[in-house]
Amino acid sequence: MTVKEKLIGLLEKKKGEFVSGEEIASGIGCTRSAVWKAIKILESEGYSIEAVTNKGYRLMDNNDVITADGVKKYINNNFINDIIIYKTIDSTNIKLKEAAAAGAREGTVIISGEQTAGRGRLGRNFYSPSDTGLYMSLLLRPSISASEAIKITTAAASATAEVIEEISGKKTEIKWVNDVYMDGKKICGILTEAALDMEYGVLEYAVLGIGINTYEPEGGFPDTIKNIAGAVFDMKKSDMRNRIAAGVLNRFINYYNELEQNTYYKSYSDRIMWIGKEIKIISPSEIKKAVLIGIDKNCRLIVRYENGEEDIVSSGEISIREDKQ
Ligand code: BTN
Repeated sequence: MTVKEKLIGLLEKKKGEFVSGEEIASGIGCTRSAVWKAIKILESEGYSIEAVTNKGYRLMDNNDVITADGVKKYINNNFINDIIIYKTIDSTNIKLKEAAAAGAREGTVIISGEQTAGRGRLGRNFYSPSDTGLYMSLLLRPSISASEAIKITTAAASATAEVIEEISGKKTEIKWVNDVYMDGKKICGILTEAALDMEYGVLEYAVLGIGINTYEPEGGFPDTIKNIAGAVFDMKKSDMRNRIAAGVLNRFINYYNELEQNTYYKSYSDRIMWIGKEIKIISPSEIKKAVLIGIDKNCRLIVRYENGEEDIVSSGEISIREDKQ
C-alpha cells in the first residue's frame, strides 16, 4: 500500500476529526513531509481536506471521489475484475474498445470523472463535465447475436433506474430505448458499442457505456441541453459516485447473467414513459405519429398509427407530441 492509500484509509476512519501530522506519520510509518506530499496528491484527486495549524488534517464530510478501491468495496460479485479510474479522458467507451481489441478481459471497467469527447447515441456528444458526473464503461464478451445486443442496453437502463431510485428515494422513468429520467429531465444516457465476429455472426465484444449526471455542473447545464438534462442530487453526497457505480454494476450483472430469460423486462416496461400517449417516431428517413401502446418482451415498441394499424418498432427515437401532451 502506498503512503497515499494508507493516509486516506486513516483519514476515512477518523472522518470529521482532526489528526495531527505527527500522529499520521507514526500511524502509517512515514515522515511528516511524506504525509504532506500525500495530502497534496489527495487534494489534486479531488478530496477536500482541511489543514489547520496545531490541529492537523481533517477529511471533510462531502467527499465524493471515485476510486477503484472505493467502487470495489461495494462490488458483490466476481464478474467485475479490473477497475481503471481516470480523472479525465476523451471517452471511456473509446478507451475500453481499444482495450477490448487488445484482449482485455470481460468484466474490465473504466470510469472517469470527466470526458472531453463523451459519445452519445446517433453520433451525438454526451456532455461530461468534471466531478459532477459518473462516466463508466463495462466490457462484455457475450455469446449473443447482434440483434440481441439491445438487451444489454435495456437491462442496463433497468439496473440504473432501480439503483438510482433506491439511493435517491425518487422515482425514475425510462425513455425508450436508453435514457433514464427523473422529474421530467434526463439524468442518464446509455450507449452500447459492439464489435461483430463476422465468421460466427455473434458479438466479439460489447462495451456498455453509462453516463449519469450525479450533480448539476457548476454554473448549470449548457443552454443547448438545459431544458432536457437534469441531475440526480442537488447537493454533493459523501462517497456517492462509488456507491452508484458499484450498485449499477452489481444489478446489471444479475440481469446480464439471466439475459436469455429477460428477467429485467418488468422493471423496464413498468418505467417506460408515455404509454397511452401520442408520440413521434423519428427515423433518419421519416417522422411517424402514433400512440405508444407498450413494450414487447424484446423491449421493442408496440405502437398504433393514426390509420389504426399496429406495428412493432425496434429502431429510431421517440419524442412526445407536444401539441397532444
Ligand atoms: C446517449 O444519451 O445518447 C448515450 C450517452 C452515453 C454516455 C456514456 S458516458 C460513459 C460512456 N462513454 C461514452 O463516451 N459514452 C458513454
